[in-house]
Amino acid sequence: MVLNGKNILLVITGGIAAYKALDLIRRLRERGGVIRCVMTKGAKEFITPLSVQALCENPVMDDLFNLTQEDEIGHIRLSRAADLVIVAPASADFLAKMAHGLADDLASAVLLANNKPLLVAPAMNPHMWAHPATRRNVEQLKGDGVFFIGPETGEMAERNEAGTGRLSEPLTIVQAAEDLLTAPKRSCLPKLEGKKILITAGPTHEPIDPVRYIANRSSGKQGYALAEVCVEAGAAVTLISGPVNLAPPDGLVLKKVETASEMLQAVKDSLPADIAIMAAAVADWRVDKVAMDKIKKGEEGYVAPLFLSENPDILKTLCAMENRPSLVVGFAAETEKILEYAQIKLSKKGADMIVANNVAPKSFGGIGVMGGDRNIVHLVTADGHESWKEMTKNDVAKRLVTVLAEKI
Ligand code: C5P
Repeated sequence: MVLNGKNILLVITGGIAAYKALDLIRRLRERGGVIRCVMTKGAKEFITPLSVQALCENPVMDDLFNLTQEDEIGHIRLSRAADLVIVAPASADFLAKMAHGLADDLASAVLLANNKPLLVAPAMNPHMWAHPATRRNVEQLKGDGVFFIGPETGEMAERNEAGTGRLSEPLTIVQAAEDLLTAPKRSCLPKLEGKKILITAGPTHEPIDPVRYIANRSSGKQGYALAEVCVEAGAAVTLISGPVNLAPPDGLVLKKVETASEMLQAVKDSLPADIAIMAAAVADWRVDKVAMDKIKKGEEGYVAPLFLSENPDILKTLCAMENRPSLVVGFAAETEKILEYAQIKLSKKGADMIVANNVAPKSFGGIGVMGGDRNIVHLVTADGHESWKEMTKNDVAKRLVTVLAEKI
């Protein structure tokens, strides 16, 4: 039994789906889980603490300011004693509180003090789920490393209402809990538990004026694949991403940036780290003076000059820092003399390893690495190089993470 002896803290918030939390407790216990429950005021409007207590056979906690409850097992200890925290059902209101770090009741205070994996199963009316405010909150929480299960699509409790917002079935939530608690062990990936990994991904956009910018064709796919694999391997991952059209993987801290300067600042703010993988295609130059208003075309035949300055080299800066991660990996996107340039880059930047690839588009004889799903890379270190056959970016990520886990 996967959950045997695992301590699970279940936070039940208010909503018509709260009744399903009772079945969830039974299912978690059937698999050997030890369940403690925290209920919000809203939850108690839908199901009674007595039913919850009877099913989990542990006292229900609901009051941040109750001297006995706080004395016996305080809000900090509730999280420390747990292997996993589940919020089910999570109402729209509660997601908003979590996203903003509010802590005005026991349930929200426990989550703010939480340092364990957190699985959230939302349930709400489809319009509430689709509302831009909820979308923002969910995105924020995913960026904070929260795992989500559901909601499902189907009929709602309210008559004539259908759409996405139903709480996932208890057994589906149980499966997600089991996956979370066992993922690193089940996977054949190397172990990176306890390691903090910093990853940059995607292009940077360097503004020219309020509507125009300098960019490149990087999709961010290789960096995102690396981030996902590192999470699966059990690492604490911070992904610093330029503007991309990719859904961020669950379970990591996401920092979105636009420019190279912002990316450098985000990298500095995210230290210390054990490993840094700089997969971003950082723009080499930025526009000297960004125009405050849209630059007008001017007279026919007039060409507006663009004055550029060199951007900070994030990789080089990081490698020279006092609290440099013990393993720093750079990428080299080239269209010619791939190995030669990669070797120069390795020493010029002070990295431990350069992953070099040919980014020539198909029309220039390449495989279309930028934007595509496949890659051909060469791993360049001070000891020499290894050339890998063409494979998916996901497979490159798995193989690279395996190499890194052996080195760290
Ligand atoms: O010099 P070049 O852009 O080819 O170097 C590529 C490597 O350096 C990548 O790992 C990239 O993320 C990093 N880089 C950087 N800051 C820059 C330019 C590149 O971190 N301004």
